[in-house]
Amino acid sequence: MDNRPIGVFDSGLGGLTAVKELEKVLPEESIVYFGDTGRVPYGNRSRETILRYARQDMAFLLDHGVKAILAACGTVSSVARSVGEGLDVPYFDVIGPTVKAAAQATKNGRIGVIGTAATIASGSYREMLLRINQKFEVFPQACPLFVPLVENAFISPQEEITRLVAERYLAPMRESGVDTLILGCTHYPIISPTIASVMGRGVVLIDSGREAARALADTLRSMDLLSVDACRENRYFITDTLENFSGVAELFLGHSVQGHTERIDIE
Ligand code: SIN
Repeated sequence: MDNRPIGVFDSGLGGLTAVKELEKVLPEESIVYFGDTGRVPYGNRSRETILRYARQDMAFLLDHGVKAILAACGTVSSVARSVGEGLDVPYFDVIGPTVKAAAQATKNGRIGVIGTAATIASGSYREMLLRINQKFEVFPQACPLFVPLVENAFISPQEEITRLVAERYLAPMRESGVDTLILGCTHYPIISPTIASVMGRGVVLIDSGREAARALADTLRSMDLLSVDACRENRYFITDTLENFSGVAELFLGHSVQGHTERIDIE
């Protein structure tokens, strides 16, 4: 057993999709969340910059005494694949569990992947899917406007602008006949009702934050690293104003983050 918190980081709000699942499957665990809202999005940046940011984010979490780190960021997971090597604590990213879930879900072998420009350019999801089954047909699509829409709280299924952007990005995907769609950026599940309604019935959406959180929970359990501390407390650290973060976080998590959120300077 280990009562230290779990560390989760993302470029912004997206990693909350993993936090929500962790709260469900590991209710006794405390979480330290780092959301780099001052530098989001990572998905339009170079590999060098993404690596540097990811290292700073992880160092911050390690300074807060975490027992494991989850890179709940599709961009870091796919572009900076080796960034967790050599750490003193277990490191998890979103890719492995996500492709496994997609491979199990698909019936026709046609799998769509949406993500940031950097994630799609990296080809990581495609490579990992084909490693599982060479016969899979993979349909990638970068959706760079989704992250700013989420970070700016255009998340309601009634938001016309979000729906129009989703229709524009997803029309070719719908035509291609995929039966499974990987949400390869952890921001996207926050607008999954819009994505689901554009894709139509019969397409299974795979939430990378949720899959990664479940895999992390299973591993911590098998390593006997779960907490037995009844006084769990989550702390949220962000690098820009609290306003947008708290509003979307509370809507999405379904509870208040007031008094647990702090703005910090990562540089
Ligand atoms: C971004 O910062 O561009 C999105 C993060 C992600 O890929 O999950």
